Amino acid sequence: MGEGSDGDARSRAFWDRAAREDATWHIANAAATDKNDFLAAGRRETDLFLAHAGLVPDRAQTVLEIGCGIGRMTARLAEIYGTVVALDVSQEMLARARAALGRRDNVTYVLGSGSDLAGVEDASVDVVFSYIVLQHVPTVAGQLRYFRETRRVLRRGGTAAIQIRANTPTAWGLDWGGHVVHRMRGHRTLSKAWRGARIPRGDLLAAASGVSANGRTESGPRATVELRPFGRRHTWVVLRRESL
Ligand SMILES: C[S@@+](CC[C@H](N)C(=O)[O-])C[C@H]1O[C@@H](n2cnc3c(N)ncnc32)[C@H](O)[C@@H]1O
Repeated sequence: MGEGSDGDARSRAFWDRAAREDATWHIANAAATDKNDFLAAGRRETDLFLAHAGLVPDRAQTVLEIGCGIGRMTARLAEIYGTVVALDVSQEMLARARAALGRRDNVTYVLGSGSDLAGVEDASVDVVFSYIVLQHVPTVAGQLRYFRETRRVLRRGGTAAIQIRANTPTAWGLDWGGHVVHRMRGHRTLSKAWRGARIPRGDLLAAASGVSANGRTESGPRATVELRPFGRRHTWVVLRRESL
């Protein structure tokens, strides 16, 4: 586990408590009422978002999932990829994922720092996948670090599909409406560890591609980057590590 920042510590405390209090609500509140709906939604959404990012699963490949939660999507990833590395900032979430997926021998679990991928080797995975996770990371720096780390761990020619919150006034307004309604119903949705931060587009493209707008190269391998909107609130960052 890498060295964390204040934001990372805040995330761990928030998500450990969320897992103990009501893991399914904090993971997917719209689909949390019934266990079968929750798992079916995880399966459906995994297939939908992989396709949205242009990814075709392959049993010869290794996928890293950032923010696996209690394994809602991990279960599906373990069916369609050869190996899954399931990372989360919360030990409590990981314990529940392990209990739920215990019989699957192609999943390994990593307790993350909250902003890096320490514990995952350089150029060791074919695919990085992450859904409704970076939108909760409380600092822009923490989110950007995940993109830099993604370039590091992807094999040459590998692809990442990472969802972030759209940085638009519409998305911002819709999100704030949701945070306030959930708060009035007793949830801790005004916490920065829930609300997260919005990444300025130039910073996002520089961290994800390895090249900034002024042509300066960041450290690590380069990638091509495409931003694919999904609905009014989500953006999928599709990052392909250059093969040379
Ligand atoms: C809304 S849940 C989504 C879980 C899973 N992706 C799914 O859709 O079923 C967010 C997950 O991200 C994890 N998480 C939050 N902040 C994180 C961070 N900084 N680094 C890694 N995981 C984080 C939480 O512990 C939680 O398990």
